[in-house]
Amino acid sequence: MLFDTHAHYDDQAFDADRRELLSAMPDHNVGLIVNPGCTVESSRTAMELAAAFPHVYAAVGIHPENCGDFVPAQMEEIRALAQSPKVVAVGEIGLDYYWPENPPRELQQEVLRRHMALAQELALPVIIHDREAHADCLAIVREFPAVRGVFHCFSGSAEMARELLKRGWMLSFNGAITFKNARKAPEVIAEIPLDRLMIETDAPYLTPTPFRGRRNDSTYVHLVAERIAQIKGLSPEAVEQITWENGKRFFGIA
Ligand code: NI
Repeated sequence: MLFDTHAHYDDQAFDADRRELLSAMPDHNVGLIVNPGCTVESSRTAMELAAAFPHVYAAVGIHPENCGDFVPAQMEEIRALAQSPKVVAVGEIGLDYYWPENPPRELQQEVLRRHMALAQELALPVIIHDREAHADCLAIVREFPAVRGVFHCFSGSAEMARELLKRGWMLSFNGAITFKNARKAPEVIAEIPLDRLMIETDAPYLTPTPFRGRRNDSTYVHLVAERIAQIKGLSPEAVEQITWENGKRFFGIA
């Protein structure tokens, strides 16, 4: 079975068919899904979806793009949600310097540090979003050596990947690696050991080739496994199995 380690079913793109789609996932060979939250509200929805579907788990946190109105009281809500059953990580958290209209960098960093401290306190792994912020993300990772996590949609260099692996972190890849202009990620995938790889869709975004432009969902995650298999010279079944085991181990799912 396939493990989609990062999909946003709380997104309004799924308002019309969320329940039908999620119920059908095991019939599409998708046996596990982690739904990270991006705000307090979406973290609550992620937790509720996890409670409703046996194959869905949740992560809770505030995405850097959504931290503009951050107040410390939000961390108390995230802390409470993080202790719900089937919440397996703190995320989606991180830094996003891509959009000029994003919240100020200092605020993004403060919110990330607070989530890292919470993850350390609760002994949960973290799910990191790093867009055009590699050096600052790595610097904050180094401040919390006891925290383990995954860089989702990893877009850093092979050198950055090496440091993260040395620190015990995981890297996760999605449909972006199937795009024609993908260069860095395939190089990183070729180099890193299989036991540090996870797969994801980031649904509803980043639909893999040849379905780019459509709404993404976990039924496309096999295309990510197939691309990794191609890069690694393995069968898709081998990648399916190892990423399944990696995801279960990383998120502590029995
Ligand atoms: Ni995401």
